[in-house]
Amino acid sequence: MKVLAVGGGGREHAAVEALHRSGAEIYSVMRNANPGITARSKAYALMDERDTGKVCAFATECGAELAFIGPEAPLEAGLADALEAAGVKCAAPTRAAARIETSKSFMRDLVRRHGIEGNLGFAAFDDPEAAAEYLRTVDHEIVVKPVGLTGGKGVKVQGEHLHSFEETMEYVREIFDLNIGGAGVILEERAVGEEFTQMVFCDGKRIAPMPLVQDHKRAYEGDVGPNTGGMGSYSDHDHLLPFVTSRDRVEALRILSDIVRAMAVEGCPYRGPMYGQFMLTAEGPKIIEINARFGDPEAMNVLPILESDFADLCMRMAEGRLHGEVSFARKATVCKYVVPRGYGVRSEAGHEIQVDEARVRGSGSEIFYANVDMKDGRCLTGTSRSVGVVGIADTIEEAERNCEDALRHVVCDAAFVRHDIGKRELVQRRVDHMAEIRRST
Ligand code: AMP
Ligand code: GLY
Repeated sequence: MKVLAVGGGGREHAAVEALHRSGAEIYSVMRNANPGITARSKAYALMDERDTGKVCAFATECGAELAFIGPEAPLEAGLADALEAAGVKCAAPTRAAARIETSKSFMRDLVRRHGIEGNLGFAAFDDPEAAAEYLRTVDHEIVVKPVGLTGGKGVKVQGEHLHSFEETMEYVREIFDLNIGGAGVILEERAVGEEFTQMVFCDGKRIAPMPLVQDHKRAYEGDVGPNTGGMGSYSDHDHLLPFVTSRDRVEALRILSDIVRAMAVEGCPYRGPMYGQFMLTAEGPKIIEINARFGDPEAMNVLPILESDFADLCMRMAEGRLHGEVSFARKATVCKYVVPRGYGVRSEAGHEIQVDEARVRGSGSEIFYANVDMKDGRCLTGTSRSVGVVGIADTIEEAERNCEDALRHVVCDAAFVRHDIGKRELVQRRVDHMAEIRRST
């Protein structure tokens, strides 16, 4: 099967490896020459992935039958709609369905309209004065978010980043003044608990679950520093997490399944991978955000242990035929991203990064290239995350050790890693925190 893969990050490299295992013939488009993706591609083109005309022309030229779209920006630009119109099936949502991610107020309103569990108190605003008035009336902590896309960096939380009415309003005004996200502000009730990611495959009607994953958004060890796109993540052999019960997971899956049903009812059926980020609170899982794609890094945890045929699965999502089990190996995974020095504040790009791929694989790990670019035979870092290393084993502890062994074979003198991800102490801290929250009810 000829498959077009869109995007040049770690998530897309993991998807391309899974497509390669399925025997797909891969054609890819991306902005940076990701060496992991280009090595698996019969042909590739460097372009802005949001340029739907150019991407469609390349897809048609290659004779692609199916498309996998990794990032959210081309979905918002309507790439799935354009490819479908050009006769290429898409395992990705239309622009209308992608609003579940691209408009945070669309998502919260949909969940409210359909009486779906897991919603948080919220209100969306088109001007700062109305937001100020609302803020004076609420008696709980809130979270400030731009309504539109911001690459995961526009969220500020009262009690963490914002400490008074004035500071909160200052940030609300900044969002309007700088037009961050381009669609106003949403104020949400702050949920307290432990976060987890539940991703599912969808075909417009049905869902099939992936293993749970926990991401780490903060830039530095010990969960401090600025929020990032995600520094690394882990998953457990039983596809739960050490602080999430199967009952919690069933609730999260019910929420996602209700969202998929609601979208079909509203005339924008959702197909493709869907990403649910939840806060596990004393009252169960609450929705933090829904994304219209795989998570990054989370895709690097689940795709290497996918046992089902990924190309076939993508075709079944595209054609509305997602029945039967999707199967994953009963393995734990730990992913750590090597990121450029300064990442999260101001990245230093353009440094060489050297990877001994054979040694990485020899230590029971996988490596996925992300925001790097091949120039004159050298692999250079960009401003975003550089390389993801994923240890795979029977337990989280062993997977973490494999990951650390493999990291010794990735050399860059201007990069850093959160070594604490997946280590026993940090995982235990999460378990203790959740136990404390459950006791508080
Ligand atoms: P997002 O970009 O929506 O994933 O938000 C980034 C981070 O902000 C999340 O990973 C959470 O840690 C935090 N956050 C977002 N929304 C909320 C909320 N309603 N309550 C508590 N924390 C939140
Ligand atoms: N890991 C967070 C995201 O992909 O949005």
